Amino acid sequence: MNIGILISGKGSNMLNIVKACDNGTLNARVKIVISNKPSEGIYKAQKIGIPTKIIETKNFNSKLKFENEITNILKINKVSLVCLAGFMKILSKKFVSQWEKRLINIHPSLLPSFKGINAQLQAIKKGVKYAGCTVHYVSSAIDDGEILDQSIVKVCKNENEQSLSKKILIEEHKLYIKVLKNLINKELV
Ligand code: GRF
Repeated sequence: MNIGILISGKGSNMLNIVKACDNGTLNARVKIVISNKPSEGIYKAQKIGIPTKIIETKNFNSKLKFENEITNILKINKVSLVCLAGFMKILSKKFVSQWEKRLINIHPSLLPSFKGINAQLQAIKKGVKYAGCTVHYVSSAIDDGEILDQSIVKVCKNENEQSLSKKILIEEHKLYIKVLKNLINKELV
């Protein structure tokens, strides 16, 4: 399976997926990493020889054209599954429907709780005892598509946003690979 990954930031989930493809944990290949801005993640991908593309909204006069360029690059690379991994742009209904059931995202909360940005801080502020992460199909509503799997972490007494984020990220890395493995196996049967 050919995977395309969309990022905006550090790219630790992206690197983890690349590693799982390289060591045979996943029967897949990361064909392209796209970032909507020059990002830490894109430089890390370039460093390890993964094809990359920076597609910035400012270079397009509409969201449609920006997204068409993303689709174009994904198609050129024969991508059949798109993974969002810290991609901070909201995708349109049109884009999402073009990639229906082939577009997944990871979110650092137990959805449907704490959608949107700063999910870990939202969890801390609410005083939850358990937090976690979710991998879900992307729908046109934010962080709202069908849930594929979740992973839980315990929130400790003196937890802060940073320590919780760190804890959740460790689970994110495991969860994303687990979900991808299941999706790839389904595809193969
Ligand atoms: C992760 O917490 C992910 O759940 C969220 O953005 C963060 C991306 O981290 N959507 P990284 O760029 O993969 O390190």
